[in-house]
Amino acid sequence: MAAYGTDNSVMTPEAVRDATDHLYELVSSRIPRFEWDMMAPVVARINQLKAEKNAVILAHNYMTPEIFACVGDIRGDSLALAREAAKTDADVIVQAGVHFMAETSKILAPEKTVLIPSMEAGCSLASSITGADVRLLKERYPGVPVVTYVNTTADVKAETDICCTSSNATQVVEHICAEFGTDEVILIPDQYLAKNVARMTNKKVITWAGSCEVHEQFTAEDIQEMRRGNPGVVVLAHPECPPDVLAEADYAGSTGAMSSYVKDKQPRQVVLITECSMSDNVALENPNVDFVRPCNLCPHMKRITLEGIQLALETMSHQVEVDPVISARAREAVERMIALPNPETPPSFNVGHGGDVISVEHR
Ligand code: 13P
Ligand code: SF4
Repeated sequence: MAAYGTDNSVMTPEAVRDATDHLYELVSSRIPRFEWDMMAPVVARINQLKAEKNAVILAHNYMTPEIFACVGDIRGDSLALAREAAKTDADVIVQAGVHFMAETSKILAPEKTVLIPSMEAGCSLASSITGADVRLLKERYPGVPVVTYVNTTADVKAETDICCTSSNATQVVEHICAEFGTDEVILIPDQYLAKNVARMTNKKVITWAGSCEVHEQFTAEDIQEMRRGNPGVVVLAHPECPPDVLAEADYAGSTGAMSSYVKDKQPRQVVLITECSMSDNVALENPNVDFVRPCNLCPHMKRITLEGIQLALETMSHQVEVDPVISARAREAVERMIALPNPETPPSFNVGHGGDVISVEHR
């Protein structure tokens, strides 16, 4: 494993053990000792750098366990991380997640230094739509409120009335329709999230032909096969999956909602229909639950590594910047979302079959 840093940052093996043995206990069920021995000096150095630079690491649920549990300070789903970015008093935010999340942090905390360990950590949803596309939609549907999933670039958020995440999409749609006095809404760019939201409301939803390259791979047949192979398994699905996948699930919600479900209900056996590191992380805190583990990796999330985080903090790069004019407009949309009440119980989506009213727009 590469070592970064100056000579005076090198720790003795004893110092590394002192600094990290308690952390290994958190992940020992997922990470063999020989792998940890290579990770521990990097974990120790990252935690040292965080203290030196007054930095905080925001770790998404899809990070690998050594990042999530051993260097992450705030952990959670997109909404939880955005809320924390808005209120942290750290000088530096390191986004252990993808670029749109780092941009959201910078939009909410423009005076802070926001670092992302890899500029290549993109997202198929964020790259599916541009600000110009949204302007076109607004011309096509004048007066219809625009709700944008946070998995978008800042220039898309800037064209938006309000943002949403998978934790609050239905709540946001209901809220903005009431505010505009309409039963029609533009919810972009994830066509599957939009279809799943449409089944929760009586609104007409106009969406965009974007999709998550990880969640769109799951099929209803996959779930049926998992149930045949694992009788009694509880199936939890992310709402970026197509509706026929949710129809086969027992519960559907954001990554945070899935995590809470497992913690509260302690099913004997569960499968999380989402990115595969999520099961590793939820398993750490729920040792009595057996996880069936289909593995669809997000290649973008997996660009974030321990070594990358160390390098980001050593070199203070890559700094995420957002044009101030775009940022100010995007901030209004994100802040309107954050201002909505945080429900006590994480909201879930309808599972089972049902109708919706939706149109999918293209460029
Ligand atoms: P949430 O964590 O908000 O459920 O989003 C999942 C996701 O795909 C983030 O990239
Ligand atoms: Fe984007 Fe899907 Fe990866 Fe999340 S899991 S970052 S939505 S591609």
